[in-house]
Amino acid sequence: MKLFTNKKKLQKEIKNINNISFVPTMGGLHKGHEILIKKSVKKSKKTLVSIFVNPKQFENKEDFQKYPRNYQNDIKILKRLKVNYLYKPSYNDLYKFKTKNEIFLDPFSKKLCGKFRKGHFKGVIDVVNRFIEIIKPKKIILGNKDFQQLILIKKHINKSTFM
Ligand code: PAF
Repeated sequence: MKLFTNKKKLQKEIKNINNISFVPTMGGLHKGHEILIKKSVKKSKKTLVSIFVNPKQFENKEDFQKYPRNYQNDIKILKRLKVNYLYKPSYNDLYKFKTKNEIFLDPFSKKLCGKFRKGHFKGVIDVVNRFIEIIKPKKIILGNKDFQQLILIKKHINKSTFM
């Protein structure tokens, strides 16, 4: 598995690969992630996993700091599952560029969890949008567990012109 912390280096490596599946995560990998990653490895030529605990999707600093991190174990899991690439960017690598594509936040973001988690879904869409611009994956593999997140990401992608 090749590890990248810098988007330019990652882009150079993957620019000629047209069948990358992308599994975005915030690390702390568990069985649920394993199922998604296995599915990706089985079905695609190359699998790229990201690990980034995205501060913009947390309402407060404390929750962000308390979020479980277990990088050494994550690495073991990713190697065992034969993931090709890991992208583990810094905050600046991901946020210090102007995106081509605008964030589309469907009004559904204000319903259900969105009523109580101000700014959460905007933070999710922002980071996913950035990952897509950097990686240009053919597929993104996301869990069904976070149903509202899944719907909002789909709506954002449908409104976007990425390539
Ligand atoms: O579901 C998650 O773990 C996160 O919301 C995601 C999609 C990786 C964006 O940070």
